[in-house]
Amino acid sequence: MAYDRKDHYYRRAKAEGKASRAAYKISQLHRQFHLFRRGDKVVDLGCAPGGWLQEVSTFVGPQGKVVGVDLLPLKIVLPKNVTFIPGDLRTPGVTTAIHERLGGEADVVLSDMAPNTTGVAFTDAYRSFELAKFAFEACQRLLKDDGKFVVKIFTGDEVKVFRQTLAECFTTVQIVTPPATRKGSFEIYIVATGYKQR
Ligand SMILES: C[S@@+](CC[C@H](N)C(=O)[O-])C[C@H]1O[C@@H](n2cnc3c(N)ncnc32)[C@H](O)[C@@H]1O
Repeated sequence: MAYDRKDHYYRRAKAEGKASRAAYKISQLHRQFHLFRRGDKVVDLGCAPGGWLQEVSTFVGPQGKVVGVDLLPLKIVLPKNVTFIPGDLRTPGVTTAIHERLGGEADVVLSDMAPNTTGVAFTDAYRSFELAKFAFEACQRLLKDDGKFVVKIFTGDEVKVFRQTLAECFTTVQIVTPPATRKGSFEIYIVATGYKQR
Protein backbone atom coordinates (compact mmCIF):
# COMPACT_ATOMS: atom_id res chain seq x y z
CA MET A 1 0.00 0.00 0.00
CA ALA A 2 1.28 3.51 -0.84
CA TYR A 3 2.00 5.64 2.21
CA ASP A 4 2.94 9.20 2.95
CA ARG A 5 6.60 8.94 3.99
CA LYS A 6 6.54 12.52 5.22
CA ASP A 7 3.45 12.18 7.39
CA HIS A 8 2.55 14.09 10.56
CA TYR A 9 4.97 12.15 12.81
CA TYR A 10 7.82 12.46 10.30
CA ARG A 11 7.40 16.25 10.15
CA ARG A 12 6.99 16.48 13.92
CA ALA A 13 10.20 14.48 14.46
CA LYS A 14 12.09 16.85 12.15
CA ALA A 15 10.67 19.93 13.90
CA GLU A 16 11.47 18.55 17.38
CA GLY A 17 14.99 17.37 16.47
CA LYS A 18 14.27 13.67 17.04
CA ALA A 19 16.48 11.14 15.25
CA SER A 20 13.42 9.36 13.85
CA ARG A 21 9.63 9.31 13.91
CA ALA A 22 9.95 5.97 15.73
CA ALA A 23 10.60 8.03 18.88
CA TYR A 24 6.85 8.59 19.23
CA LYS A 25 6.13 4.88 19.09
CA ILE A 26 8.32 4.03 22.08
CA SER A 27 6.90 6.99 24.04
CA GLN A 28 3.38 5.79 23.32
CA LEU A 29 4.27 2.23 24.35
CA HIS A 30 5.89 3.56 27.53
CA ARG A 31 2.78 5.60 28.37
CA GLN A 32 0.58 2.55 27.89
CA PHE A 33 2.74 -0.11 29.59
CA HIS A 34 5.02 1.84 32.00
CA LEU A 35 8.02 0.09 30.48
CA PHE A 36 10.90 2.06 32.02
CA ARG A 37 11.95 3.24 35.48
CA ARG A 38 14.69 5.62 36.51
CA GLY A 39 17.97 3.71 36.78
CA ASP A 40 16.89 0.87 34.48
CA LYS A 41 19.30 -1.00 32.21
CA VAL A 42 17.85 -1.25 28.69
CA VAL A 43 18.95 -3.01 25.50
CA ASP A 44 17.82 -1.55 22.15
CA LEU A 45 18.27 -4.00 19.24
CA GLY A 46 18.13 -2.35 15.80
CA CYS A 47 18.57 1.11 17.29
CA ALA A 48 19.54 3.25 14.23
CA PRO A 49 18.95 6.06 13.48
CA GLY A 50 18.46 6.48 17.24
CA GLY A 51 14.97 7.79 18.03
CA TRP A 52 14.35 5.13 20.70
CA LEU A 53 17.83 5.64 22.19
CA GLN A 54 17.11 9.33 22.70
CA GLU A 55 13.72 8.76 24.32
CA VAL A 56 14.73 5.83 26.52
CA SER A 57 17.82 7.72 27.66
CA THR A 58 15.58 10.37 29.23
CA PHE A 59 13.15 7.79 30.69
CA VAL A 60 15.92 5.92 32.58
CA GLY A 61 17.80 9.09 33.56
CA PRO A 62 21.50 9.57 34.38
CA GLN A 63 21.64 6.52 36.70
CA GLY A 64 20.22 4.29 33.96
CA LYS A 65 22.02 2.70 31.05
CA VAL A 66 21.02 2.01 27.44
CA VAL A 67 23.01 -0.21 25.08
CA GLY A 68 22.05 -0.13 21.39
CA VAL A 69 23.11 -2.35 18.48
CA ASP A 70 22.68 -1.84 14.76
CA LEU A 71 24.13 -2.82 11.40
CA LEU A 72 24.05 0.85 10.41
CA PRO A 73 26.13 3.63 11.95
CA LEU A 74 24.55 6.28 14.17
CA LYS A 75 24.77 9.95 13.27
CA ILE A 76 23.34 11.40 16.49
CA VAL A 77 25.33 12.68 19.44
CA LEU A 78 24.90 9.95 22.03
CA PRO A 79 23.58 10.90 25.46
CA LYS A 80 26.02 10.05 28.29
CA ASN A 81 24.06 7.04 29.49
CA VAL A 82 23.92 5.43 26.02
CA THR A 83 26.47 3.06 24.44
CA PHE A 84 26.37 1.97 20.81
CA ILE A 85 27.72 -1.35 19.50
CA PRO A 86 27.94 -1.40 15.69
CA GLY A 87 27.25 -4.85 14.26
CA ASP A 88 24.86 -7.62 13.35
CA LEU A 89 22.99 -9.12 16.27
CA ARG A 90 23.33 -12.54 14.59
CA THR A 91 27.13 -12.43 14.81
CA PRO A 92 28.53 -14.61 17.61
CA GLY A 93 29.85 -12.52 20.47
CA VAL A 94 27.53 -9.53 20.03
CA THR A 95 25.19 -10.59 22.85
CA THR A 96 28.18 -11.08 25.15
CA ALA A 97 29.43 -7.60 24.20
CA ILE A 98 26.02 -6.14 25.06
CA HIS A 99 26.06 -7.87 28.45
CA GLU A 100 29.53 -6.53 29.20
CA ARG A 101 28.61 -2.97 28.23
CA LEU A 102 25.40 -3.16 30.24
CA GLY A 103 27.29 -4.30 33.34
CA GLY A 104 24.60 -6.79 34.41
CA GLU A 105 21.19 -8.07 33.44
CA ALA A 106 18.71 -5.91 31.52
CA ASP A 107 15.46 -4.64 33.00
CA VAL A 108 14.01 -4.22 29.51
CA VAL A 109 15.02 -5.61 26.10
CA LEU A 110 13.64 -3.80 23.03
CA SER A 111 13.81 -4.86 19.40
CA ASP A 112 12.71 -2.59 16.58
CA MET A 113 14.79 -4.61 14.08
CA ALA A 114 13.33 -4.77 10.59
CA PRO A 115 14.53 -6.59 7.47
CA ASN A 116 15.11 -4.89 4.14
CA THR A 117 11.69 -5.31 2.59
CA THR A 118 11.07 -6.99 -0.77
CA GLY A 119 7.44 -5.94 -1.22
CA VAL A 120 6.40 -9.60 -1.10
CA ALA A 121 4.32 -9.70 2.07
CA PHE A 122 4.94 -13.31 3.14
CA THR A 123 8.71 -13.05 2.49
CA ASP A 124 8.96 -9.84 4.49
CA ALA A 125 6.84 -11.32 7.29
CA TYR A 126 9.06 -14.40 7.46
CA ARG A 127 12.27 -12.33 7.58
CA SER A 128 10.79 -10.16 10.29
CA PHE A 129 9.85 -13.33 12.24
CA GLU A 130 13.45 -14.57 11.95
CA LEU A 131 14.75 -11.28 13.36
CA ALA A 132 12.17 -11.40 16.16
CA LYS A 133 13.41 -14.91 17.03
CA PHE A 134 17.02 -13.66 17.12
CA ALA A 135 15.89 -10.84 19.38
CA PHE A 136 14.19 -13.33 21.68
CA GLU A 137 17.33 -15.50 21.82
CA ALA A 138 19.36 -12.46 22.83
CA CYS A 139 16.65 -11.50 25.30
CA GLN A 140 16.88 -14.90 27.00
CA ARG A 141 20.57 -14.29 27.61
CA LEU A 142 20.21 -10.69 28.75
CA LEU A 143 16.92 -10.16 30.55
CA LYS A 144 16.53 -10.33 34.32
CA ASP A 145 13.81 -12.29 36.07
CA ASP A 146 10.52 -10.33 35.89
CA GLY A 147 11.94 -8.14 33.08
CA LYS A 148 10.12 -6.83 29.99
CA PHE A 149 10.54 -7.54 26.28
CA VAL A 150 9.15 -5.41 23.44
CA VAL A 151 9.61 -6.75 19.92
CA LYS A 152 8.48 -5.63 16.50
CA ILE A 153 7.21 -8.22 14.04
CA PHE A 154 5.37 -7.93 10.73
CA THR A 155 1.87 -9.41 10.61
CA GLY A 156 1.83 -12.91 9.11
CA ASP A 157 1.20 -16.55 9.90
CA GLU A 158 4.21 -16.71 12.21
CA VAL A 159 2.89 -14.20 14.77
CA LYS A 160 0.60 -16.70 16.50
CA VAL A 161 3.40 -19.24 17.02
CA PHE A 162 5.83 -16.57 18.18
CA ARG A 163 3.30 -15.18 20.61
CA GLN A 164 2.73 -18.67 22.05
CA THR A 165 6.48 -19.15 22.49
CA LEU A 166 6.65 -15.90 24.44
CA ALA A 167 3.61 -16.84 26.53
CA GLU A 168 5.61 -19.81 27.89
CA CYS A 169 8.25 -17.46 29.32
CA PHE A 170 6.32 -14.31 30.28
CA THR A 171 3.38 -13.62 32.57
CA THR A 172 1.61 -11.30 30.09
CA VAL A 173 1.95 -11.04 26.31
CA GLN A 174 0.05 -8.36 24.39
CA ILE A 175 -0.03 -7.25 20.77
CA VAL A 176 -0.25 -3.52 20.08
CA THR A 177 -0.02 -1.03 17.25
CA PRO A 178 1.03 2.36 18.61
CA PRO A 179 -0.82 5.34 17.04
CA ALA A 180 2.47 6.64 15.56
CA THR A 181 2.74 3.53 13.35
CA ARG A 182 2.53 4.48 9.68
CA LYS A 183 -0.86 3.98 8.05
CA GLY A 184 -0.79 0.81 5.95
CA SER A 185 2.23 -0.61 7.81
CA PHE A 186 2.33 -4.37 8.49
CA GLU A 187 4.25 -3.96 11.72
CA ILE A 188 2.93 -4.72 15.18
CA TYR A 189 4.64 -4.81 18.59
CA ILE A 190 4.50 -7.60 21.11
CA VAL A 191 4.86 -6.37 24.69
CA ALA A 192 5.76 -9.17 27.10
CA THR A 193 6.14 -8.60 30.84
CA GLY A 194 7.09 -10.74 33.84
CA TYR A 195 9.93 -12.79 32.35
CA LYS A 196 10.37 -16.18 34.01
CA GLN A 197 14.02 -17.21 33.89
CA ARG A 198 14.64 -20.96 33.50
C1 LIG B 1 13.04 0.59 11.96
S1 LIG B 1 14.75 0.71 12.18
C2 LIG B 1 14.87 1.07 13.90
C3 LIG B 1 14.49 2.48 14.27
C4 LIG B 1 14.92 2.84 15.67
N1 LIG B 1 14.13 2.13 16.67
C5 LIG B 1 14.81 4.31 15.95
O1 LIG B 1 14.14 4.68 16.92
O2 LIG B 1 15.41 5.12 15.24
C6 LIG B 1 15.27 -0.94 12.11
C7 LIG B 1 16.76 -1.16 12.27
O3 LIG B 1 17.03 -2.55 12.44
C8 LIG B 1 18.36 -2.75 12.00
N2 LIG B 1 18.66 -4.18 11.85
C9 LIG B 1 18.07 -5.06 11.02
N3 LIG B 1 18.64 -6.27 11.13
C10 LIG B 1 19.61 -6.16 12.08
C11 LIG B 1 20.54 -7.08 12.64
N4 LIG B 1 20.60 -8.36 12.23
N5 LIG B 1 21.39 -6.65 13.60
C12 LIG B 1 21.36 -5.35 14.00
N6 LIG B 1 20.48 -4.43 13.51
C13 LIG B 1 19.61 -4.83 12.56
C14 LIG B 1 18.40 -1.97 10.71
O4 LIG B 1 19.73 -1.70 10.31
C15 LIG B 1 17.59 -0.72 11.06
O5 LIG B 1 18.42 0.36 11.41
